[in-house]
Amino acid sequence: MDKDRLFEFFKKGMYKEIVEFFHEHVPEDQEEYILDALSYYNLGLVNDAVRTLKVGLISFPGDKDLLFNIVEILYNANMFDEAEKYAVQAINVEPDNYVYYDILATIYFSRNDKENGLRILKNALKYAPDNLVPQLIDKYSSVSEDCLYAKKYGFFPPPSFADISGYEVLLDTIIKEKLYLLEGDIVEIGAFLGGGTYKLSKLMEALGVDKIVYAIDTFDFRSDESTSTSGERMSDLYGEILKGRNQFDIYSKITMNCKNVVTLISDSKNVVLPCDKVCFAYIDGNHSPDYVRNDFYLVWNKLVSHGVVSFDDYGYDLPQVTKTIHKLIGEESERILKLWTAGGKRIFIEKE
Ligand SMILES: C[S@@+](CC[C@H](N)C(=O)[O-])C[C@H]1O[C@@H](n2cnc3c(N)ncnc32)[C@H](O)[C@@H]1O
Repeated sequence: MDKDRLFEFFKKGMYKEIVEFFHEHVPEDQEEYILDALSYYNLGLVNDAVRTLKVGLISFPGDKDLLFNIVEILYNANMFDEAEKYAVQAINVEPDNYVYYDILATIYFSRNDKENGLRILKNALKYAPDNLVPQLIDKYSSVSEDCLYAKKYGFFPPPSFADISGYEVLLDTIIKEKLYLLEGDIVEIGAFLGGGTYKLSKLMEALGVDKIVYAIDTFDFRSDESTSTSGERMSDLYGEILKGRNQFDIYSKITMNCKNVVTLISDSKNVVLPCDKVCFAYIDGNHSPDYVRNDFYLVWNKLVSHGVVSFDDYGYDLPQVTKTIHKLIGEESERILKLWTAGGKRIFIEKE
């Protein structure tokens, strides 16, 4: 029987006839092995299908179509250990086929190996066609918190140690209050390890707005002499987190792919803000009253109408910060539209 006829049989669902034909005739090429294997598969004979493809791979080692079919069949039959083995082989042959990474990620997540699952999934997302990316993220969001995060914000979070105050409440505010639609850029005073800078930057990218994130920091964690009510010096707290590592090195690594970030390595009292307008600012730098005041006016005077300034450490364990914020609110009460707190120790001040 010639190949056209075999294909015709296959199209008509005459799987038994195909299997019987190959009982008498050894498949001559990859296509024939696949026709034979898929006929077995469609007859519910998974083991025979797999065996046929394995024999095919002996004659045609590394053939991409034989590998593709064996991986799909093993995976669909929940034979994950073997599917993994062949998917790894297939990736060596076709390193940019997202399907194999997708399959491997599912296998790892099914074993609760979230670290490898996410690592492999990121390759799937790298090679998948653009229109499939949201579907993939959606598919994994029930097993991966990072995917759930990406589904919500449009990007994967940086390592959690790099954001100490939790910027999600800021992201939520920017989205909810539509601050990204206002004129002006974003200013962050006190970037520390850059996790928050990364989040602000990537949110702007995900929202498709052309804004710069100005990140201001001395990158000298010893520069803050303030002490909390528990007697802990801020500089000691940062030192404990850094454990001897260099603050700026970590910041640079975390933010290295952030194209819209301008880093200003400076004491916030000496910095010249290069933009004319600000739509959102987050102040979490030096916690002494003169700096809280300086940092507020640095951004407040450039804040557009309906723009928002947020402070960290409001009403918490740095009473001098809270008191200074109260004074600033009093001074500027005529120009304030509204105030609110959220996310534990964050206060938001919206300009009229
Ligand atoms: C609390 S940390 C910032 C944490 C960051 N916002 C986060 O949540 O991940 C305070 C930062 O302010 C920086 N800093 C201290 N004094 C400063 C000053 N005078 N000017 C600019 N940055 C300063 C420190 O280097 C430190 O990185």
